[in-house]
Amino acid sequence: MKNKEILKPVIIANWKTNPATVKEAVLLAQKIEQGTAKFKNVETIITPPFPFLIPVLEVLKKSKLGAQTTFWTAGGPYTGEVSWLQLKNLGVSHVILGHSERKIHLGESDEAINKKTLAVLENNMTAILCFGERERMGNDIPIILEDQLKKALRGVRKDKIKNLIVAYEPIWAISTTPNSLPDTPDNAFRAVIFIGKILANLYGSRSAKLVRIIYGGSVMAKNIKGFLKEGKMRGALVGGASLVAEEFVKVVAEADSLVRKQVDGNRAF
Ligand code: PGA
Repeated sequence: MKNKEILKPVIIANWKTNPATVKEAVLLAQKIEQGTAKFKNVETIITPPFPFLIPVLEVLKKSKLGAQTTFWTAGGPYTGEVSWLQLKNLGVSHVILGHSERKIHLGESDEAINKKTLAVLENNMTAILCFGERERMGNDIPIILEDQLKKALRGVRKDKIKNLIVAYEPIWAISTTPNSLPDTPDNAFRAVIFIGKILANLYGSRSAKLVRIIYGGSVMAKNIKGFLKEGKMRGALVGGASLVAEEFVKVVAEADSLVRKQVDGNRAF
């Protein structure tokens, strides 16, 4: 039933640099776990800030644990960094990479993103690779996306991409970008087609289908279905709405109800 597993949408909570205390983090994780426990058709991942990884892991039953970044070596003289091996040994299975906030505020380079992606995939963790354009309009969006993906995936071997999730996150749609607006399902669908082609050119169409393409940018309970159904996205990276347990649970509930409506394994995602 491996195929069925891969058809499950994946909904990822990206808490960013929130909340402020371990107590709040554990409470939020508990509420999400309790609320989403029954939605077995959806894979859920929670990515807390580093200091909360262990206490959050202790309360997780359904969800898997993710980190918001990593360093690319197993260890060594890199003050302030946290290695993929340290994360893996804690029980982290997923790592967000290349988020636009890290590029914008910390100057994270294409080269660093590539090294991190290689390290995560080579060591059999799942990479959630973010990419996306800054401006809403423009003819060069396909070129920008292709360029970002190719740079991030340089040297990534075909046999590793089953552990790759690519998160299309147009920066203009992220809720904290001034005047942000979520993308439309139609546009998201166009992105899925285009990204699928880039991946097929890189890895061949059969392997490319193993990569889940998900959407991020102002995802809420009221718009998730459109991205999954019309947009054909296979999941979502949820920022702001993942900090409100009730809203995040509703996002997962909506995704779950959509899967339940699918007739026996018909491809929806
Ligand atoms: P948002 O964040 O859902 O608050 O727009 C998404 C993200 O930045 O990953």
